Amino acid sequence: MTEDRTVVILAAGEGKRMKSALSKMLHPLLGRTLLGHVLAAAAPVEADRTLVVVGHAADQVEAHLAEVAPGATPVLQAEQHGTGHAVRIALDAVPDATGTVVVLNGDVPLLRGETVSALVAAHELAGTAATVLTAEVPDPTGLGRIVRDPSGGLERIVEERDASPAEKAIREINAGIYAFDARLLRAALAKLTSDNDQGEEYLTDVFGLLAAAGEPVAVHVATVAEETLGCNDRVELAALRGRLRDRINADLMRSGVTILDPATTWIDVTVAVEPDAVIDQNTQLRGATQVGTGATIGPDTTLIDTVVEAGATVLRAHAVQAKIGSGASVGPYAYLRPGTRLAHKSKIGTFVETKNSEIGEGSKVPHLSYVGDATIGEYSNIGAASVFVNYDGVSKHRTVIGSHARTGSDNMFVAPVEVGDGAYTGAGTVVRRDVPPGALSVSGGQQRIFEGWVESRRPGTAAAEAARAARDQLHATQDADADVDAPGDTSSE
Ligand code: UD1
Ligand code: CA
Repeated sequence: MTEDRTVVILAAGEGKRMKSALSKMLHPLLGRTLLGHVLAAAAPVEADRTLVVVGHAADQVEAHLAEVAPGATPVLQAEQHGTGHAVRIALDAVPDATGTVVVLNGDVPLLRGETVSALVAAHELAGTAATVLTAEVPDPTGLGRIVRDPSGGLERIVEERDASPAEKAIREINAGIYAFDARLLRAALAKLTSDNDQGEEYLTDVFGLLAAAGEPVAVHVATVAEETLGCNDRVELAALRGRLRDRINADLMRSGVTILDPATTWIDVTVAVEPDAVIDQNTQLRGATQVGTGATIGPDTTLIDTVVEAGATVLRAHAVQAKIGSGASVGPYAYLRPGTRLAHKSKIGTFVETKNSEIGEGSKVPHLSYVGDATIGEYSNIGAASVFVNYDGVSKHRTVIGSHARTGSDNMFVAPVEVGDGAYTGAGTVVRRDVPPGALSVSGGQQRIFEGWVESRRPGTAAAEAARAARDQLHATQDADADVDAPGDTSSE
């Protein structure tokens, strides 16, 4: 029988040292906000209810919760009188909650679900009144210290600013993650005072109160100390980001993904990469991105919410909400915007931008082009430097190119327009009217030549000089030929 469980996440603090208009809880870290990471770590608890204490920038935090954790309930702590005060307000909102209360600081994003599960399991198995997650750290500055009694049991938790020099020397710290017996927690919270350096109600004082009353309190030591790291400023945020990157990359490499340069590869926790994919250096995979087996991504590539199927190659590219089919090839230097759908073995080449377009199986847009609002069939080839002219200044329109079509270089497809199956267009065609299947379309007038224009209109320029030199050279050759081929010279053939 599992107990009734309540999760309380503390997220009302100001986070002053972030110096940000954005709530500290909402700063992003490889795919989730700080708060989002803690919500994810709490998920395995399978709580009957999850409460998030909000206060500073409550509107921002509530809006974020509605998006990422609609099942969680925000509880307003209008004035922040400390972590104990915050938990008291949360529990007042759920008078029926019994069993276990799991409390998590909102700013420990490296915390893993396994660690929270293990803490709760140990707490419930032992039937303890309160259990705190701790870690031995090299530099405990700023954190609450775990004060043990002579027999090694937990006596109390003391904040650094209230600690004696001997207590400050303790390197075992309070990670800010706890499991409590609901009934005993409620009783102890009612007894908290703000008799400390900050004048706040400290949740941590619950441990001393319970221990003094003879209730069993326990310590659960984290197996990986870095999981307990908090985040107070952007220097710490960057350090956490680096650690999380290393953890994600190590997990992926162990699962069979090749990462050539883990130090420059930034993959969100939300990304899925299949075994035998190869990720080259300076690559970022973000959001809901998925990479299939045998695909090669990078170097110098950013994929956001993009699906790459098996065996595709993406080289020096930036893609947002795109789908890259199996065996397709992208880049170098390509920009795939939302709604790009590349089918099996299609190709988007160098300096090509695409948006809201479907490129059929085996079709290619190899060079210097913009493809917007287009549907291209199978095995068609779009000539270099072509533009899908999708915007008339008011509305967007679609271009449809059939299968096995071959359009010339420097074409303008003035949408809405259609090029039929197997049709051809000449270089420089401005395609304003539909091209029927199998037809050739060319446009533009005859090419015209104005002999001697540069020398007469741009005299004295380098171009005019070059033209004159070329003309003199041509005349000299012609004169020599004329000598040989002089009329009456019958020896020549
Ligand atoms: C707290 C612990 C400390 C522990 C550290 C771990 C207390 C008294 N101290 O210290 O022992 O080592 O976390 O990181 O608990 N919050 C509220 N309402 C408030 C005050 C805080 O919701 O009135 C939230 C904050 O947003 C934050 C969390 O509680 O998410 C912790 O608060 P913070 O002020 O960062 O506590 P620390 O001083 O770090
Ligand atoms: Ca903190």
